[in-house]
Amino acid sequence: MTDSDSTKSVCVLGGGGYLGSHLIRGLLEETEYRVLAVDQTFEKLTVSSPRLKRVQTSIQEPGLLETVTADSEILVSTTALCTPALYNQRPVEVIEANFVDLLPLVSLCTERGRWLVHFSTSEVYGTFPDEMKEDESPLVLGPVHKERWTYACAKQLLERLIWAHGQHRGLAFTIVRPFNVFGPRMDYIEGIDGAGIPRVLACFMRSLLYREPLQLVDGGRSRRSFVSVGDFTDAVVRIIKRPERCRGEVINIGNPQNDVSIRELAEKMVAIYQSLCGSAGRFSFQNISGEMFYGPGYDDSPRRIPDISKARRLLGWNPRVTLDEMLPDIILDYVNRYSAAVGSR
Ligand code: UGA
Repeated sequence: MTDSDSTKSVCVLGGGGYLGSHLIRGLLEETEYRVLAVDQTFEKLTVSSPRLKRVQTSIQEPGLLETVTADSEILVSTTALCTPALYNQRPVEVIEANFVDLLPLVSLCTERGRWLVHFSTSEVYGTFPDEMKEDESPLVLGPVHKERWTYACAKQLLERLIWAHGQHRGLAFTIVRPFNVFGPRMDYIEGIDGAGIPRVLACFMRSLLYREPLQLVDGGRSRRSFVSVGDFTDAVVRIIKRPERCRGEVINIGNPQNDVSIRELAEKMVAIYQSLCGSAGRFSFQNISGEMFYGPGYDDSPRRIPDISKARRLLGWNPRVTLDEMLPDIILDYVNRYSAAVGSR
């Protein structure tokens, strides 16, 4: 840390969201930076600090990106429409939110010499079947009518634009590819504080809270490797503290040790929920096709294993938390936040 850090500002676009709110807590704890949080809602950002300022607006607000790129030295872009149900149900909005809306940010960071730390996605690797390496693996997406890939394609094109600005116009950037980050406050419980299908953690939590069958898309055979939000945040804070090392890099952040099938995840969550909540009786699982669950145009990544040797090397970082260790706290967080609302229905 340098003397001037306390005078610098990090702007987190999407600072009221799931990843943004966890990151801001980490930044306030681990750095001296001032933090500017921009979002439309801040229910998830419960931390307070004299170094934290909230700006409640949309990144589409005229003049907003001009102002924040004038005021902050580091811009962290976390805004996204990132629940798979939207990719084939509202693909135009997905492409706009994940690509079009962020175009001015890339140009402004380039013009003003700001460091852009952009959250991309593990989904850019698509259906690539092996260990995913940032600088070697091909990005394998399905055909256009498989609208599942609108999100990955939009994210990939933005990565390529950022890269091009870096190579040819001097943009300082770092691209982060998160691999299925699990933690408290992820998404919402449908019908209580959100609508539509959230990601798998919140889907399974809803089923547990309402004692409904857990739905296993295509039998729950797809695999994911889950990283705890604490490990993820630690990595991103380390990136922000290491500009020289991380500029111009694409970095996977995930935990290859936590690779499980979605069926295994469901079974673990049921077992942990029952041990924590003393819930009697049996939970059931229901197989459902991807098309039935998400609608036409759904497709899936069969497996996602990140190669994290670059993150280890650049950041001196190693993910520590196993799935069995992270799930109890996460499940309890949902139980504490939603039990009353569930009970009143
Ligand atoms: C997610 C999203 O695209 C992004 O949020 C993100 O960029 C990326 O992955 C990531 O977190 O790295 P995905 O992992 O497919 O994609 O999203 P989930 O909703 O978490 O689904 C994981 C798996 O569980 C999929 O195979 C899905 O079909 C399955 N699933 C989901 C079920 O079996 N049951 C459910 O109730 C929900």
